[in-house]
Amino acid sequence: MNVSTIICVINAISGLILFQCIPACSASDKDTFKTTVVPNEFIVQFHFKYFSTVRESYIQTKLLSSNITGWRILPRNNLASQYPSDFDILRILDGKKSSIEHIVKTVTSHPSVKAVVSQRSVQRTLAWNFNATLAYKSRRTLGIVRKEDVKHSRRVSSVLHANVLWNLGITGKGVKVAIFDTGLTKNHPHFRNVKERTNWTNEKSLDDRVSHGTFVAGVIASSKECLGLAPDAELYIFKVFTNSQVSYTSWFLDAFNYAIHRKVNILNLSIGGPDFMDSPFVEKVLELSANNVIMVSSAGNDGPLYGTLNNPGDQSDVIGVGGIQFDDKIAKFSSRGMTTWELPLGYGRLGLDIVTYGSQVEGSDVRTGCRRLSGTSVSSPVVAGVAALLISGAFHRIELINPASLKQVIIEGAEKLPTYNMFEQGQGKLSLLKTLSRFTLGAPWQS
Ligand SMILES: *[C@@H]1O[C@H](CO)[C@@H](O)[C@H](O)[C@H]1NC(C)=O
Ligand SMILES: *[C@@H]1O[C@H](CO)[C@@H](O)[C@H](O)[C@H]1NC(C)=O
Ligand SMILES: *[C@@H]1O[C@H](CO)[C@@H](O)[C@H](O)[C@H]1NC(C)=O
Ligand SMILES: *[C@@H]1O[C@H](CO)[C@@H](O)[C@H](O)[C@H]1NC(C)=O
Repeated sequence: MNVSTIICVINAISGLILFQCIPACSASDKDTFKTTVVPNEFIVQFHFKYFSTVRESYIQTKLLSSNITGWRILPRNNLASQYPSDFDILRILDGKKSSIEHIVKTVTSHPSVKAVVSQRSVQRTLAWNFNATLAYKSRRTLGIVRKEDVKHSRRVSSVLHANVLWNLGITGKGVKVAIFDTGLTKNHPHFRNVKERTNWTNEKSLDDRVSHGTFVAGVIASSKECLGLAPDAELYIFKVFTNSQVSYTSWFLDAFNYAIHRKVNILNLSIGGPDFMDSPFVEKVLELSANNVIMVSSAGNDGPLYGTLNNPGDQSDVIGVGGIQFDDKIAKFSSRGMTTWELPLGYGRLGLDIVTYGSQVEGSDVRTGCRRLSGTSVSSPVVAGVAALLISGAFHRIELINPASLKQVIIEGAEKLPTYNMFEQGQGKLSLLKTLSRFTLGAPWQS
């Protein structure tokens, strides 16, 4: 069966450019993203996808006919380069402002060129609480973590009762989940269905040396120790961040294009990405939705102030997820309030859709074993895992599942938290079992 649904989890795509002046965010337990313009490097966006020789000829035609030299199209040696693409990276060797402007203007004037915009790099800073992790690990080593787990379980698959679906034989089978993060160790014992690990950085190894990518993969699909939600889901591991947590707009764009070719069902992008000022990135996210990619994204870690929702979690085509603690209190870090894109026009929208566990959640560690982590980048893979699980149960009607219908059932199944308003909790707390009942009664794919 041709599966055309992709769920894309994009966490904490940082709207930080806009919000970094707000001093309120507490520093603990949260990841931050800083984007920087790369001087003299530009992304040439085309209206359509072409093979590299065609794209090059378009750029060359314009520049050579104007006798402009001092530029280079950067080669991209990755899996996406065997397919047509909608962009190139142009490096301008002469750093003078006037030369740069002239070149950008000349290339932009080609009818096949949509825009020429700056390349950006993104630096992620992880700020999880290593002490809590270490304490937890040593308890585990001593064999006493079990008791505590029973008392306040931090294992999302247990708290959400994923076993009810597992007992029905619904385990994520057939659903392709792409994880855009720091990679994954080869033959990690927790994962039984890693289909592909792909390279989008300039590093020699695809292994995760940071443990973020492994953790996210674990929440979604671990089949040992700390069980994930959809243990039989097919994992496509995209290493788009280096071990020093750096990435580029162009790495994301190539990886997204490849994910579309691969027809992955679920794409978990828990590492932040460039911000919403980064138009090629924002447009690519819209293209994924248009290709029936179901996108789940973090609301952001910039709470407790209002007006802190991150892109693209605040877009209406994306499921925006906030974080709660296991005692059902909204986590302090969870972003909230109305959307801010429309602020210049004098209005805003409800951009937060749902909340789920995002504090001290248990997931897979780099080589083996488990750890705990907090942040809304933990909450969005929970929703992605739930989506993978539900979709695998309705795989025979996959053609009826799309970003809109899936978002509808997940929102309909949410439980209102009594003491919070909709700008803090969206439609409420994720409930796998209530969503399951929406999924099996009344949903369009059941008729
Ligand atoms: C480019 O250079 C050629 C030869 O030097 C010249 O004939 C032509 O007029 C130049 N074109 C432009 C647009 O300057
Ligand atoms: C972690 O533990 C070390 C030593 O026990 C302590 O010095 C440090 O302040 C702790 N850090 C945090 C963030 O709690
Ligand atoms: C990833 O690609 C880069 C650039 O093409 C290359 O230098 C690097 O060795 C590759 N890494 C792996 C693990 O293949
Ligand atoms: C999905 O994204 C979240 C948020 O960053 C991340 O913590 C998690 O590891 C990701 N999951 C996978 C499977 O990549």
